[in-house]
Amino acid sequence: MTMNEIRNFCIIAHIDHGKSTLADRLLEITETVSERDQKEQVLDNMDLERERGITIKSHAIQMDYKQNGKKYTLNLIDTPGHVDFSYEVSRSIAACEGALLIVDATQGIQAQTISNLYLAMENDLEIIPVMNKMDMPNAMPEEVREQIIDLIGCEEDDIIEASGKTGLGVQKILEAIVEKVPSPTGDTKAPLQALIFDSEFNSFRGIIAYIRVINGEIHKGDKVKFVNTGKEYTADEIGVLRLIQEPRKVLRTGDVGYIISGIKTSSEVKVGDTVTHLERPCEKAIEGFEEVKPMVYAGIYPIDAEDYEDLRASIEKLQLNDASLTFEPESSLALGFGFRCGFLGMLHMEIIQERLDREFDMSVITTVPNVMYIAHTKKGDTFEMHNPSDMPGPNELDYIEEPYIKAQIITRADFIGQVMTLCLSKRGVLKNQHYLTSDRVELTFELPLGEIVFDFYDKLKSISKGYASFDYYTIGYRNANLIKLDILLNGESVDALSTLIHFDNAYSFGRRMCEKLKELIPRQQFDIAIQAAIGAKVIARETVKAVRKDVTAKCYGGDITRKRKLLEKQKKGKKRMKQVGNVEVPQKAFLAVLKLD
Ligand code: GTP
Repeated sequence: MTMNEIRNFCIIAHIDHGKSTLADRLLEITETVSERDQKEQVLDNMDLERERGITIKSHAIQMDYKQNGKKYTLNLIDTPGHVDFSYEVSRSIAACEGALLIVDATQGIQAQTISNLYLAMENDLEIIPVMNKMDMPNAMPEEVREQIIDLIGCEEDDIIEASGKTGLGVQKILEAIVEKVPSPTGDTKAPLQALIFDSEFNSFRGIIAYIRVINGEIHKGDKVKFVNTGKEYTADEIGVLRLIQEPRKVLRTGDVGYIISGIKTSSEVKVGDTVTHLERPCEKAIEGFEEVKPMVYAGIYPIDAEDYEDLRASIEKLQLNDASLTFEPESSLALGFGFRCGFLGMLHMEIIQERLDREFDMSVITTVPNVMYIAHTKKGDTFEMHNPSDMPGPNELDYIEEPYIKAQIITRADFIGQVMTLCLSKRGVLKNQHYLTSDRVELTFELPLGEIVFDFYDKLKSISKGYASFDYYTIGYRNANLIKLDILLNGESVDALSTLIHFDNAYSFGRRMCEKLKELIPRQQFDIAIQAAIGAKVIARETVKAVRKDVTAKCYGGDITRKRKLLEKQKKGKKRMKQVGNVEVPQKAFLAVLKLD
C-alpha cells in the first residue's frame, strides 16, 4: 500500500448529530465488521458510552475499500463531541487530511459544529459536508443546506444528504472521501516523526498509544523516544487498528496505528506528543502539543471513613487510563479525609463519579466544584488554589485571578433577550453578535469560567427551550473581586460548603444558600441554625425547626415486620448522610449551590 491509496479522515459534529451511528454504517458497508459483530455503535465500546450514547474517548479504525478496481485503506478517527474533551478532538484532527462535517438536518448548525469546523480549517483539512438524519419527518433540508453553504462557502452539490439510520448517502460519502480527501504527504526517508493522538489503558498490556506516522517509518523492536516527556522505550508491538489490534512489522509515512512499549501509566503518554527514533531523532516535535490541565476541582470523600484507602486505590486505577484526572489528599473538618480531584469539566466529573460508583462500588460524597484560582500574596508569592479553603487571610492576600472563557452560543433570534440576561447575570460581556440566518444568531461572550461551572448549561437549555447550543475555550486568567463565603451549621463553619463568590453577588447568594439548605437538611430533634458569613459577619440566617420523629408511632398494634421495614428504610435513607458536628447533612446539601434558583 502506498501513500496514494491511504485516506485519513475524522468525523466532526455537534453532540448527538449522529457521528457514531454514521460511523457504524461506514464499517458495515466496507465489511469491516461482520454482521454478527455488529452491535449499535461499535466504536463506543465503554459501557458508560453505550448507555449514555456519547463518545467519551476517541477511537480509530481502519477500513478496506475498493473503487474502480483500486484498493484503498481508509482510516477513520472518531472524535468526542463534548466541550470537556475538545483537546482530544484537536489532536485527532491533526492526524487527518479530511473531515466529514455532520450536521443534523433537524437541528442545523450548532455551537460545536462551528468550533470543530474551525479546528479542522486551522489544520487545513478538506471538509466534506454531510446533512444527516434526512429520514426524519422534521428534517429541514432547505434551511440547513443554506446554513452549511453560508458557513463553509461550499457549493450546493458538495453537500451529501445522508441518514445513519437508513444508510442513505453512505456510499456517496465513501466516494467523496476517496476523491476529495488528499492522500497523506510526508517524507518517507526522513527521521521518524509520529503524532500520538490518543492512548488507552489495557490492564494486561499497559498503555496503548495511537499514532499517526507523519514522516519516516517505525519497525517492531525499534528504540524510540517520546519527545515532550523525554522518555525512552522499545516498540514491543506496533500494528494497525482494525476491529481488533492487528500487529504489523512496520508502519510507514501516512499510516495510522498503535504502539505498545511496556508503559504502565497513562501519565507517561501525553496526547499530542511526538514519537521519534532514539538514533537519528527528528529535529523538532510536531507542533501544537499542549499539556491538558484540569479546569474544575471538587472534593471526593468516602461516606464511611474506613473506605478511605479503598477510595484511594479506586481513584488511582481510574487515573491509569485517564491522565486528565488529578488528585491529591485533602481533609475537611466536616467530611474527614478525602481527595481533591481535578477534572476537565463538569461532564468529566460526573463520569468519574459514576465510574467510582459502578466499577468500584464506592459511595462517595462530592463537594461543590470550583475552578482553579490563582492567589497573589502581599509578600509577592503566587500559588494555585484548588479549594476555597486555600484562600489566604485578608492580611496576607493581595489579589486573586480567575479563569475566563470565550463562549459561543447559537440560538433562535427570539431567545436573544433571555440569553443576554442570563450571561450578564453571570458577569458575561457580549463581544459579538452574528446572524447565521434571519432567525438564528451566534453570540460570543467573555465569561468567568467559575460562573459556568455551576448550572449555566442547564439554565441556558431551559430558557431557550433546548434551542441553544454552547461551546467555549479558555482565554486566560483575569483579576477578580472574589470573597470567601462560609456556611455555619449551629455556629460551626462547614468547610465543605465554603465558596468563592464575586463581591457583588455575595449577599443574594448567601441568602439563597441558606434558603436552599433549609429545604435540604431534614428536621432533627433540635433546632438547626443555618448561617452565611463573610469573615465574622453573618449576612443571612435560616432555622430548621426541631421535630420529634418517631417513625414507628404509626405502627400501632405491634406489627413487628412492618416496624422493622420502616426502621430499615430509615437506615437506608441515612446512608448518604454525613455527621457535621451534631447535625446530619445529606449529600444533596453539599451540592446545594448547584440547585440555587
Ligand atoms: P456523541 O458521540 O455523543 O457526540 O453523539 P453522536 O454524534 O455520535 O450521535 P449518535 O450517533 O450517538 O446519534 C445520536 C442519536 O441520533 C441516537 O439516538 C441515534 O440513534 C440517532 N440517529 C443518528 N443518526 C440518525 C439518522 O440518520 N436518523 C435518525 N432518525 N436518527 C439518527
